Amino acid sequence: MITISIANAKGGVAKTTTALSLASYLSTHGQRVLLMDIDPQANATKTFLELGIGDVAEPPTMFEVLYQYVMERKKNILPEAIRQVPSNPNLSLVAATLRMEQFKDLIKANVKRPLEVLKELVKPVQKDYDYLIIDCPADLSIYVENAIELADYVLCPSIYDFYGIDGLSLIIPTINEIKGEDFEGYRVLYTLFNPRATKVQEKLRDYADMLEKMEKVFPTRIPVDQGVKNSQADSVDFMADKNYRKSKARLAYEELGAFVLEHWR
Ligand SMILES: Nc1ncnc2c1ncn2[C@@H]1O[C@H](COP(=O)(O)OP(=O)(O)OP(=O)(O)O)[C@@H](O)[C@H]1O
Ligand SMILES: [Mg+2]
Repeated sequence: MITISIANAKGGVAKTTTALSLASYLSTHGQRVLLMDIDPQANATKTFLELGIGDVAEPPTMFEVLYQYVMERKKNILPEAIRQVPSNPNLSLVAATLRMEQFKDLIKANVKRPLEVLKELVKPVQKDYDYLIIDCPADLSIYVENAIELADYVLCPSIYDFYGIDGLSLIIPTINEIKGEDFEGYRVLYTLFNPRATKVQEKLRDYADMLEKMEKVFPTRIPVDQGVKNSQADSVDFMADKNYRKSKARLAYEELGAFVLEHWR
């Protein structure tokens, strides 16, 4: 199982949209995909609920899994929380809930290796999936640190603007801190891209240029596309629905998916 964590310290940069799109692409290309939502906001989870997966509050969610592992020392508990998406036999989800928010501090206080909780939890399902995609919250919390620790690859969606690149300048050093300075497996994906808005402050432009020179940036940028919002409003998977076949964002996400299939394995 290859783990791809989707992370940026900045909010609203299309982390969840990217996680959902990549999970959909890989699962419709013959890969067994587990999507893990570790964002207490639970946006990815809510999107799937619309796909008929059950009630948001219905346990077991990631909260119960963490609680049983951290407070009750139980192991092999992740499988119970995995829900298969009815419309897609290759796609499964572990749901998040808001209750995860208050639980962060208890992890650090109760576990010897707090960064390795997710790593331990996924051990029993390693062989059941080809890809684990983790949708992270917009912070540098213990959840994100866990997702980075576990990741084979980290994908960092960002808007090409002041706050987006600033978010990158926080998450990338965190990745290097956890994975080591020589870790090669992270990439920036520019999202919500507007070709007319490419001006950022000089200092951030230097940082963005450096990432570009280090070949850390995907050449494909995900354009702003109303189809993304429309499909989310209609609760349809825009990567699979025929009405969105020509959506520019979908075509760009297909390029990303093809890259992942070829190189991240
Ligand atoms: N390519 C796109 N074109 C237009 N709108 C988009 C695109 N990608 C994402 N969006 C919209 O941008 C908003 C933020 O996207 P998303 O929720 O995926 O970001 P996020 O980084 O996961 O946010 P958060 O930090 O809150 O978890 C959403 O309303 C989404 O519909
Ligand atoms: Mg999100």
